[in-house]
Amino acid sequence: MQFSDVEGDLSEVLLTQEEIHEKIAVMARQIEIDYAGEKVLLVGVLRGAVMVMADLARELALPIEMDWMAVSSYGAGTQSSGVVRILKDLDSDLEGRKVLIVEDIIDSGLTLSWLLGNLRSRGAASVEICTLLRKPDAAKVEVDVKYVGFDIPNAFVVGYGLDFAEKYRNLRGIAVLAPHVYA
Ligand code: PRP
Repeated sequence: MQFSDVEGDLSEVLLTQEEIHEKIAVMARQIEIDYAGEKVLLVGVLRGAVMVMADLARELALPIEMDWMAVSSYGAGTQSSGVVRILKDLDSDLEGRKVLIVEDIIDSGLTLSWLLGNLRSRGAASVEICTLLRKPDAAKVEVDVKYVGFDIPNAFVVGYGLDFAEKYRNLRGIAVLAPHVYA
């Protein structure tokens, strides 16, 4: 889906498909250097990270494995509560593995802070984070993130995996959602 397909729902284009792909290539080159000679386990956090995972995994010239987790960090509201429930756990044993968590966005940081602790307690050799987006102004907790694509303003963004009420995940780029859509 293109921006023009949902033009009335968006207030501003933040990142085009080309800008996202260029950044993912830059992150991939750094990951290739840092993990040279290693087999990395990429852990995607459903559902938002699907697009980043698909593009990052294909960009990497490294042997990788993929696994997926689904967690719920939101109660009834739209704010992260910090109380994280595992909806789907990993299939892989992390003992001795080099783990790279792949995320679409770090907002309050509560989900990733919890996930880092959880995965590090499973005996992995290392656990690091790669996120396409981060909202510094929304941070409630500091998270040690090794790879960040873009720091963005604290706005409601959709596209490239990010949704509002399950819509807009298939938008090719990332845009700010117009307030009338969620008001
Ligand atoms: C998003 C995102 C992170 C989390 C970040 O997922 O993918 O997992 O929120 O928020 P935080 O930093 O405030 O904890 P979401 O819960 O929206 O689910 P989704 O990936 O299925 O859209």
